[in-house]
Amino acid sequence: MVLQVRPTGAALGAEIIGADLRSVAEREFAQIHRAWIEHLVLLFRGQSLTDDDLIGFSRRFGALDWAPVQETGRRFVEGKPEIYVVSNVTENGVPIGSLGSGEAVWHTDMSYISDPPKASMLYALQVPPRGGDTGFVNMYGAYEGLPELLKRRIEGLKLKHDGTYNSGGYLRLGVEAVDDPVNSVGAVHPLVCRHPESGRRALYLGRRRNAYIIGMPLSESEAMLDEIWSCATRDELTWYNQWRVGDLVMWDNRCTMHRRDSFDAGDRRIMHRTQIKGETRPAS
Ligand code: SIN
Repeated sequence: MVLQVRPTGAALGAEIIGADLRSVAEREFAQIHRAWIEHLVLLFRGQSLTDDDLIGFSRRFGALDWAPVQETGRRFVEGKPEIYVVSNVTENGVPIGSLGSGEAVWHTDMSYISDPPKASMLYALQVPPRGGDTGFVNMYGAYEGLPELLKRRIEGLKLKHDGTYNSGGYLRLGVEAVDDPVNSVGAVHPLVCRHPESGRRALYLGRRRNAYIIGMPLSESEAMLDEIWSCATRDELTWYNQWRVGDLVMWDNRCTMHRRDSFDAGDRRIMHRTQIKGETRPAS
């Protein structure tokens, strides 16, 4: 079957129509892969996936990473460490997942490790009636839109991506609370990376909090990062998904960042996420 690819009309994102992700033929998979490289984020509506289906479709793109370390004890589905639970729901007083109901700020998944995942897939099991939308930003566009002088100034620079706090602002388990960008834990990556499949250059920013440009006085690093971030997160570079139950969204961590709106803490939101290992380290 030939799938329909419907671009969102925004700076990134396309909906794929006609796919049942429980059984994707080779030709369909090739079409999905091409669309993903072209549009950076794909939306598949109306799916009915078990956790094993989600793992199975994710593995078509490569080996999976285990769920990242977060603020709460339980962060993945029992017996399935590949499935990270994003949820505000508590059972017997214990959160079943991470990130609560507040805003999750712009970030790239797990960029604080040396080999971050190239892709993530988020599947909606329960969604609130309003709020909790997830936004994506095109990091090719972010790089291409920088003033020429700033592009030249950042050539060859490396950035430390903080591993202390997650995008919800929570301290990761087992890490000391530090608000010192120079000394916080994290991984160092080139500030501008070349996408190994498209060959295009993208800004690779991770998270703003505790980010640090290696070798610079802290005040200069802060000023430069503020300038870069304000260019990189302009509205015209973004697209948001308003979730419905059964939506699966997959994104390319090498050329996008994402964030999430807050929602009413009394509503329930349960999402299951997989993260696909990168075959190459981010490289300039
Ligand atoms: C995430 O950062 O992967 C979670 C985004 C969301 O909750 O929509």
